[in-house]
Amino acid sequence: MDFNSKTAVVTGAARGIGREVARALLERGTNVAILDVLLEDAAGAADELSRFGALARPYRCNVASIEDVAETGGRIAQELGGVSFLVNNAGIVRDRLLLRMTPEDWDAVIKVNLTGAFNCAKVFAPGMLKQREGRIVNISSVIGLMGNAGQANYAASKAGLLGLTKSLAREFAPRGVTVNAVAPGFIETAMTKGLSSEIRAKMIESIPMRRFGAAADVADVVVFLLSDAAAYITGQVVNCDGGMVMAG
Ligand code: NAI
Repeated sequence: MDFNSKTAVVTGAARGIGREVARALLERGTNVAILDVLLEDAAGAADELSRFGALARPYRCNVASIEDVAETGGRIAQELGGVSFLVNNAGIVRDRLLLRMTPEDWDAVIKVNLTGAFNCAKVFAPGMLKQREGRIVNISSVIGLMGNAGQANYAASKAGLLGLTKSLAREFAPRGVTVNAVAPGFIETAMTKGLSSEIRAKMIESIPMRRFGAAADVADVVVFLLSDAAAYITGQVVNCDGGMVMAG
C-alpha cells in the first residue's frame, strides 16, 4: 500500500486532528477528500494544503446522514477515483452530567461520532473489499476507555467505535482490509481550547508526560496504521495520550 497517487477520505478534516492527518497524507502524495460540515473551512484547508502537490478537495458532508455520505461518495469516486484509506475523525461533544443531559444531547453525539463512522464504512468499504486492499482508522478517545463524568454520551460513542473497529476488522481481514482505532488523550485543538485554566491544570496532572499532545502526534499514529509498516495489524487500539491510559 504505497501512499502515492492513492485516495483518502478524512472526515472532520477542516481543522484540528483531521486537518493534520490530511496534511500528512498530502505530503506523501495521497489525494485527500476533506469532508466536513463546515464547507468554507474545508475549502480553506484544501486551498492551504494543496501546496503539497497531491489533490486536496473539500466536500460539505454531514457524516451523521447516510444520504449525505452516499452522495459525497459518488462525487469522490468521479473526482478522485477509488478510495483506499478512510479516516473516521469527525466528532463532537455535548458535555453535561447525566441528570442534565437531554435525549437530544445523547442522540447528537452518538449520531456524529458513532453512526457517522458506520455510514462512512457502509459507503467506502465496499470499494476497498472489491479491490482487496484498504485501510480504515477510527479516531476514538481515552474517554472511551476510561469514561468521564459529564461525558456519558461522548464516552459511549467512543467506546462504541472500538466495538465497531474490532467487528469490522474481523469481517474485513480475509479481504485485505485492516481496521484499527487510535485513542488520543488531551490534544491541543478547538475541542480543548475552551477549557478553563483550572480544568487544564487538573488534566495535566493526570498525564504522566505533563503536557497536552499536538494534532500532529495523532496524525503520525494514523499514518503509521495506514502504511505498509502496519500491514499485519488489525482490530487494535493505539493510545496516543502521553501515558494517561496504560492498559495491559
Ligand atoms: P475539532 O472540533 O477541532 O474538529 C472536528 C471537526 O469535525 C470540525 O472541523 C467539525 O466541523 C467536524 N465535524 C463535526 N461534526 C461533523 C459532522 N456531522 N460531519 C462532518 N464533520 C463534522 O476536534 P478535534 O480535537 O480535531 O477532534 C477530532 C477527533 O478526535 C474527534 O473525533 C474527537 O472526538 C477526537 N479526539 C479529540 C481529542 C482532543 O483532545 N482534541 C482527544 C481524543 C479524541
